[in-house]
Amino acid sequence: MNAHVPLETAAAPRVDLYGLVHKGLRRALADAMASVGAADLADAAAAARALAAVRTAASLCRAHATAETTHIHPALDAVRPGAARAFDEEHRAHDVALDAIEGAVARVEQATAAMRPAAGQGLYAAFARFVGESLLHMAAEESVLMPQLAAAFDDGELRALQGRIVGSLGADGLAAFLVHILPATAPEERVALLRGLHLNAPGPVWAASWNAARRSLSPAACAALATALGLPEADLPERVVLIMDFPFDGPWGAALADAMRPIAAEIAAAEGLVWKIWTEDPAGRRAGGIYLFESDVAAERYRAAHFARLAAFGITGVAVRRYRPNAALSAQTAAPLRADCP
Ligand SMILES: [Fe+2]
Repeated sequence: MNAHVPLETAAAPRVDLYGLVHKGLRRALADAMASVGAADLADAAAAARALAAVRTAASLCRAHATAETTHIHPALDAVRPGAARAFDEEHRAHDVALDAIEGAVARVEQATAAMRPAAGQGLYAAFARFVGESLLHMAAEESVLMPQLAAAFDDGELRALQGRIVGSLGADGLAAFLVHILPATAPEERVALLRGLHLNAPGPVWAASWNAARRSLSPAACAALATALGLPEADLPERVVLIMDFPFDGPWGAALADAMRPIAAEIAAAEGLVWKIWTEDPAGRRAGGIYLFESDVAAERYRAAHFARLAAFGITGVAVRRYRPNAALSAQTAAPLRADCP
């Protein structure tokens, strides 16, 4: 095979119905599996995060299989009867497996803190098996079904099929996929995907899609996308770093962690909070936090609520600083500015 095919003679790649969405599903499945495997399930907040990742991956798999069964398989069966039958059967088997996984999630949720790690082992085993089966299933769709689809339909017909699937998801349904697809794909694939949506999708669908990019990509990756798509600077994410620091007499370390666990769970759910680092200086008798927020509005809403919470503990004299991160330099120094950073 000649690796130096001149550009003008290289054939344009055909429309691929599976490539990008499968990259996103593989990422969601692998992340959820690793998250359950590594979580301290005795800790309520850690368990909630890991279980939410499994539920999200499960619901994406169900929605994806439904789209294939509803749109792709009947189209292929119409020209090649029976071609998709084995894949329909696998989708039904996956539904049964996902029912069992969701049952295992509920059992972990309902277990006491002490029993959650043991319940989590059953969930991890069932989910890891499902991940393995899904990886093989997706590989077969790409290597067996896609060539048959490409032989039976031209690119215009495949694009129409793709458009029907995207349309059936709705703005929020599409965004739920995009937050996993966009970080799982190469920059040029992201640009092509979002350019298609920018040009063709109705306004609310485009708004939800761009919002998904802002939630799931680093500011530097978002800025590169915005430039490639010719979007105005106002559409770029505006992460905000907030630093709070106040006089504090303890407790410290493990004792502080025990006392603050319920409040940490409350803070973790604060709208627009990406993460918080808890800070303590026993020698200097000061404590506080470093926060990353999605926007100025979220940072200010949190600051007001946290001031009230601290005042209720008798803590006053809180110093607050607010900064805009330099996205390009922060990316170079491994700063966790993405929404999905642990
Ligand atoms: Fe499938």
